[in-house]
Amino acid sequence: MAEPAKNLVPKFFDDTGTTYDGVVSYGTLGKDKYWKKKILEQISDGSSFLDLACGTGILTREIAAKFPNAKIVGIDITKSYLDVAKQNSNSFDNISFILDDAEEFKLDSKFDCITASYLPKYCDPGILVKNCIMHLNPGGKIIFHDFTYPKNPAVRGLWNFFLTILRLVGYFIPSWKDALIGLPKLIRSTNWLHNYSNVMKKSGLKVSNQYLTYGAAAILTGTK
Ligand SMILES: C[S@@+](CC[C@H](N)C(=O)[O-])C[C@H]1O[C@@H](n2cnc3c(N)ncnc32)[C@H](O)[C@@H]1O
Repeated sequence: MAEPAKNLVPKFFDDTGTTYDGVVSYGTLGKDKYWKKKILEQISDGSSFLDLACGTGILTREIAAKFPNAKIVGIDITKSYLDVAKQNSNSFDNISFILDDAEEFKLDSKFDCITASYLPKYCDPGILVKNCIMHLNPGGKIIFHDFTYPKNPAVRGLWNFFLTILRLVGYFIPSWKDALIGLPKLIRSTNWLHNYSNVMKKSGLKVSNQYLTYGAAAILTGTK
């Protein structure tokens, strides 16, 4: 039986917090910046935001900059990532960070919008969506973003070629070896978009999705 994707999280992330920002930028050929912009476009207003798997806080800070009067909370399971997030967010007084599991955290507050970039493929859709809904205000929005395996054969060929190069690079960067070798396999096997979409619909959310960059990533939204 395949290993649960959640088991990969410490292998991929425990030792990579300090170099993540550069790797995500080069490793997506700069598309991460564009994908985050597309996530932000999905948020028109709100006064309370929760960024799950906030990592080093790239998206968290972009939300905080767009909504300077709002309260923003970032949650991540990996301490080394949160340490970088806190250090890089010193100039923001509207962000707080919590070390916790997105599937298990319990907060007293509810939010107008919950975002999660690159988290869905590691989690159980039923558990994550249920926990998000519990922390969502009426009318609030969940925004999930992650990699998808392109359907178009030509794009798929290019994608596989690029990820083969990334895998080779992985052999020369010990701290990133597990992630750069394991991630392509996980992206090929995950069906997160379909699975989360189904769970969200069954939970009564109004669902829509958007493919990005020829199907190399997608954004899924669910409104309560
Ligand atoms: C690729 S990074 C993405 C960070 C950030 N969202 C971004 O877009 O730059 C994935 C993050 O997911 C976090 N993560 C994975 N599973 C998690 C979980 N169950 N709860 C909270 N964080 C989790 C990891 O610790 C890591 O920081």
